[in-house]
Amino acid sequence: MPPVTRRVRKAVFPVAGLGTRFLPATKLVAKEMLPVVDKPLIQYAVEEAFAAGIEYCMFVTGRGKAVLVDHFDHAPELEALLRERDKQEPLAELMGGMPKAGTILATRQQAPLGLGHAVRCARAFTDDEPFAVILPDDLIMSDRPCLAQLIEVWEARGGNVVAVEEVAPARTASYGILDVAADDGRVARARGLVEKPKPEVAPSTLAIIGRYVLDPQVMQALETTVPGTGGEIQLTDAINATLDSQPFHGLRFDGTRFDCGDKVGFIEANLAFALARPDLRDRLAGALRRTLADVDRPEGHDTPQETVRTATPLKVL
Ligand code: G1P
Repeated sequence: MPPVTRRVRKAVFPVAGLGTRFLPATKLVAKEMLPVVDKPLIQYAVEEAFAAGIEYCMFVTGRGKAVLVDHFDHAPELEALLRERDKQEPLAELMGGMPKAGTILATRQQAPLGLGHAVRCARAFTDDEPFAVILPDDLIMSDRPCLAQLIEVWEARGGNVVAVEEVAPARTASYGILDVAADDGRVARARGLVEKPKPEVAPSTLAIIGRYVLDPQVMQALETTVPGTGGEIQLTDAINATLDSQPFHGLRFDGTRFDCGDKVGFIEANLAFALARPDLRDRLAGALRRTLADVDRPEGHDTPQETVRTATPLKVL
């Protein structure tokens, strides 16, 4: 038997979701292909993984989502056209997202049975190695890739490490929530995890965000994990089942997380990523000031659009 690898080389991307919150846009387009500024969510996620030292990515897709794999292949006609017309910049953008051959793999989750089930579909890929899970809906803006921050904690403490964030008490029913045993303000050790508890029974307000570094024991636990919250096989429950034999830590990562599975979160991500771009910042800031001035104006004080555009004070941004 080859030695067990104690480096995190593999990442699983559960991307079979239907994206019902973004219909009709997601009728034909995979939700992970929705762009934040000019790059699809899946590409941010893959780039984060590679930047954190991941070598292989496994997409757990569903029907109609083959485009996610196509996105990481060549587009020969487009490339030839751009070359012929000497369009260096778009060509560089196009080629910049191209991973090494053989590093993107895919399998199918044939039925929507839950996040735990999706991860379990990648069992032959992760084999007996520790692995990362990345949920592309959670887009993280940070100086250091969030996954790299998690791997650093995992290297020091082992077991399972997830990204966490404090959420408003009313929001616990949207997340996996930690039952905290010890907390130094940055890293929290949990004695238990609860998937989407109602606020009145939530053990804390520390929520799991879509980045995980998991021990192969979690993959084993998934084999016997029964449907839980929402009738789905939950990754949270499988991790919970390993807590007696494995340390579990939540890291309050450095960075800002945008929930791109939510309309406002997605729009906010677009604004934040665009405002961080020197080529877009000034024009967008101007457009935002004008738009917000329109929103802020008291009712009954309609001003013709052109007047607003020239006379709005810079009061909002
Ligand atoms: C999933 C997990 C949940 C986690 C969340 C993070 O829920 O089940 O524990 O907190 O991702 O985004 P979902 O958002 O897929 O319902």
